[in-house]
Amino acid sequence: MSNAQPNRHIAGEAAEVADGRGKCFLVAGRKIAVFHVGARFFALDDRCTHADAAMSDGWITGNCVACPWHGAEFDLETGEALSLPATGTLRTYPVSIIEGRITITVEEEEGTGARDEME
Ligand code: FES
Repeated sequence: MSNAQPNRHIAGEAAEVADGRGKCFLVAGRKIAVFHVGARFFALDDRCTHADAAMSDGWITGNCVACPWHGAEFDLETGEALSLPATGTLRTYPVSIIEGRITITVEEEEGTGARDEME
């Protein structure tokens, strides 16, 4: 009954993320930005691929989020960098709302699991 899928994690309550905004959650040792756009939620790595800006502080336009530091835009669905100065893709995570809770699946990445040590 408890956790049928070990890679699934409850990040928090959906109500914590206002529509049109993002919020950072610590999930499975990773900082993950959750964005709420209308009826949809998206989950991506919180750290911009250009430098270290917190993407959860960015602003949403349409299906994109713009980095709060230098304005690079990323596709919320794919994490793809759509404008400079960022060129790297943000990792995305499957996210769903189950009984009002943000549920994120974090699969281990091959070969990069030990790269981002966080306290
Ligand atoms: S830190 Fe995000 S575009 Fe520079």
